[in-house]
Amino acid sequence: MEIRQAHHTINMLVSAWQSHRMYPEGHPSRVQKTRQCQEQLAVLLADKSPLRIGLVEDTLFIEEHLFADPHIAEAEAVDILTSLEIDGVELERGLSLAELQTFFSLSTACIQSGDDIETALTSANIRHLRIVTLLQDDENPNIVYNSAIKAVDQIFKDIHGGRVPSTDSIRTVSKNMVQSVLRQEHALFALAQIKDYDNYTFNHSVNVGIISLTVGRACGVHPQQLQLLAFGGMIHDIGKLKIPVDIITKPGRLTQLELVQIRRHPDRGVELITQIEGIPKEVIDMVHYHHLHYNRTGYPQQSQPELSPLVDMVTIADHYDAMTTHRSYQRPVPPREAIRRMRHVSGIDLHPEFLEYFIYHLGEYPVGSLLRLASSEIVLVTGFGSLGNQHLKVCRLFNARGTLEADPVSYELLPDEMDQIVGDVDPLSRGIDISIYFD
Ligand SMILES: [Fe+2]
Ligand SMILES: [Fe+2]
Repeated sequence: MEIRQAHHTINMLVSAWQSHRMYPEGHPSRVQKTRQCQEQLAVLLADKSPLRIGLVEDTLFIEEHLFADPHIAEAEAVDILTSLEIDGVELERGLSLAELQTFFSLSTACIQSGDDIETALTSANIRHLRIVTLLQDDENPNIVYNSAIKAVDQIFKDIHGGRVPSTDSIRTVSKNMVQSVLRQEHALFALAQIKDYDNYTFNHSVNVGIISLTVGRACGVHPQQLQLLAFGGMIHDIGKLKIPVDIITKPGRLTQLELVQIRRHPDRGVELITQIEGIPKEVIDMVHYHHLHYNRTGYPQQSQPELSPLVDMVTIADHYDAMTTHRSYQRPVPPREAIRRMRHVSGIDLHPEFLEYFIYHLGEYPVGSLLRLASSEIVLVTGFGSLGNQHLKVCRLFNARGTLEADPVSYELLPDEMDQIVGDVDPLSRGIDISIYFD
């Protein structure tokens, strides 16, 4: 978004909001200003969804623009958000005129009455506008990540022990994962950079659950469906537990017979999960069809009615994690290279639009990228700052003389400092494992 558009959008939002405060319901000014505002937002949301507007340490931001020196409307926006006691709002593609009007009416009313705007919006069934508040404890990315590990571990143990797996904890953790991702967009994704080479299927399952959520967020999936994505992502390869482990872990090429066996894992997975009561159809489809390509080649091949779009999203997550993970027969590929390779199979193996949304969401320098700066230092992208995916949190691994830092320093690269980046570095060429920096 250009800075001019950023100022303009805040002006329109504040002006529409003020018209709701000043004029009674049905007044032409309310309708006209809200319509102009909705049209402006629709243009921006067509380009990028969700769109975030909020406060970071009392300073207003919209997407990557921080208004450190606010104009009148921007100062008013800070007052509105502060009076509502919220950190911001998040707007999604599809935001309607009626939803925007309801938001303005409810928020002016809540400021007067002191009522909670989040509760008011939930009861009004607003789907494309969400309140952003501070993170709760059980939504903390590290806590959520550890509970995801435990939940997947429990399922794997149940299956190894010949029991029908219990999915209670995985359902709870899916919910917390979604909350965590909704509140801190990229923090959980950073933890999917932790790779456990010796325990591939297990680690891959947790990672695909997390990455699927990132794909789902990028595609504007509703939070309830996001829970299904996390759930399905975490158990998508469950059928591999029924394939001989020496085939799963075999280095080098598989024989034709071994290939046939490994290709049975989606069917084996469905056999396992249909023993459990109440598994949603979408989740069964993710387990069954995550190797069925976008062009419907792949496996298993059988006549099949329309599949949920969530299946295509898990497939993208599965590719991304498999590519970026070291395996006995494969060098891990850095994130930017993984994106390039995925684009090669866009529209063939992978859903082209979902893939583009995902790539856009990851940003030019996805978390996990190792970058050389003009100063010759080498930094690892460990996360994003409050201004989005052009505001990098980095960790300096190599100093300008090329020495590995014993105690790496973390700092931030702001959107206007991106020109310091001069190229990619392959972690393997520097003999490092980036996983350890995300622990
Ligand atoms: Fe699989
Ligand atoms: Fe997989």
